[in-house]
Amino acid sequence: TSSIRPLVAGNWKMNGTNASMPELVAIGGAFTHGFDVPVDALICPPATLLARAYDVLSSSAVRVGGQDCATSENGAHTGDISAEMLKDAGASFVIVGHSERRIDHGETNEVVNEKARAAWRAGLVAIICIGETQSQREKGLTLDILTAQIEGSVPSGATAANTVIAYEPVWAIGTGLTPTIPDVAQAHAHIRAELVRVLGDGANAMRILYGGSVKPSNAGELLAVANVNGALVGGASLKASDFLGIAEAYR
Ligand code: G3P
Repeated sequence: TSSIRPLVAGNWKMNGTNASMPELVAIGGAFTHGFDVPVDALICPPATLLARAYDVLSSSAVRVGGQDCATSENGAHTGDISAEMLKDAGASFVIVGHSERRIDHGETNEVVNEKARAAWRAGLVAIICIGETQSQREKGLTLDILTAQIEGSVPSGATAANTVIAYEPVWAIGTGLTPTIPDVAQAHAHIRAELVRVLGDGANAMRILYGGSVKPSNAGELLAVANVNGALVGGASLKASDFLGIAEAYR
């Protein structure tokens, strides 16, 4: 699995306005001029900025993605955004099942599974998020939760080409806390084994990202862990210098 090309993905969450565009220009410019690091890069801005982000980044190697999509095709669903619309705005990826969606919007594994399939129908790569809460970790349930989320959220038909898995321990998101390196290694090895068990050997080529308080200062050690094939970055993706500093870990 060491031949997997890593992906560093930024999730801007509910942040970003027109005033943020210079950060995207800087990221795109770096990847176009001399940022010679063997890594794929993706920014998932809020839907309001997606088309503009695509305009700014389409001439660079940096891709853009959505943060969520509807389970269904276009139709009478006020306020929702379909995978087709994201694709039309320039997206090539969409995050589904982020813990903030699972918690704030009650998204179940079943809903996340439907969203991943909607993403595929539109030709998007689904980034399916999984991860345990603090209380689940304290009860020793981490690996069981990951298994249940993989079985429930990852549709059959998932391949290394249409799906990325993001492991985000909920308690590590936006807190500055990260699991120990052995804990990250254990979780990612478990996720790999479960993906292979459920999907077959092709899952050995699937990217498994780590997310939760990744920053330039800890990216080196987190991204060097076996079965960590990149990062899903929240807060530190809002600044071009931090995002690029994380990608530098792969130089
Ligand atoms: O999806 C990325 C995320 O949840 C991690 O956020 O701010 O801890 O990097 P942050």
